Amino acid sequence: MPTGPGNDRDVSDAAEVVVDDDASRRVLGLAWSGAARFAEMLADEGELRGLIGPREVPRLWSRHVVNSAAVAGFLPESGSLADVGSGAGLPGVVLALMRPDLDVHLIEPMERRIAWLGEVVDELDLDNVTLHQVRAEELHGKLEVDAVTARAVAAMGKLARLTLPLVSRGGVLLAQKGRRAESELADAATALRKLGVTATSVHEVDLLGDGEITMVVEVRK
Ligand SMILES: C[S@@+](CC[C@H](N)C(=O)[O-])C[C@H]1O[C@@H](n2cnc3c(N)ncnc32)[C@H](O)[C@@H]1O
Repeated sequence: MPTGPGNDRDVSDAAEVVVDDDASRRVLGLAWSGAARFAEMLADEGELRGLIGPREVPRLWSRHVVNSAAVAGFLPESGSLADVGSGAGLPGVVLALMRPDLDVHLIEPMERRIAWLGEVVDELDLDNVTLHQVRAEELHGKLEVDAVTARAVAAMGKLARLTLPLVSRGGVLLAQKGRRAESELADAATALRKLGVTATSVHEVDLLGDGEITMVVEVRK
């Protein structure tokens, strides 16, 4: 990996970010190598380009890249997916690698983040990805998908208003949430009903089998 001015990371730093173990290989399957390359890119440039905080680099692999697979088990068998507020590409890039059969839309309003996502898409040869440099609201009535994912974008009520108009009838919103998932869902109950939600559930996903739980909120329309 090239080392530029102001970037004192070197090849070995980036390589050490990726943990080659049975657990991550089981979770990521054939997407493992692409995900490892993505993690290296983030380790090299993510902090410098304001995509991840400095404290996140050492835990980039398990907490961010592999963790992005938490929603994979709830995705539809086929069709389209939009990751709203994709930022550095979490979880959208990892899901696009895992599910090359899905038509994946990454929605992110910030120009420098979209530029980054374009570089990632090229480097990883992701031909199932379309980038949209807009706020999710701007795509209401223009884009409809079978599933929307969102990680660290907004509280449940606001997130539902941003994303559910993009979800087709019978589709699903999958939100990666923290420990307050249940109460966020309860607070958003009225908004969800008005938006045509038919069912909700909260899943506790222990992705790596190490007791580290990721909460996935599933909202069906
Ligand atoms: C905290 S970051 C999370 C990024 C990424 N999902 C992750 O987990 O690392 C939130 C992202 O949502 C984007 N965002 C904020 N409001 C949005 C909106 N209305 N539509 C689409 N993206 C939005 C921001 O630009 C930012 O990149």
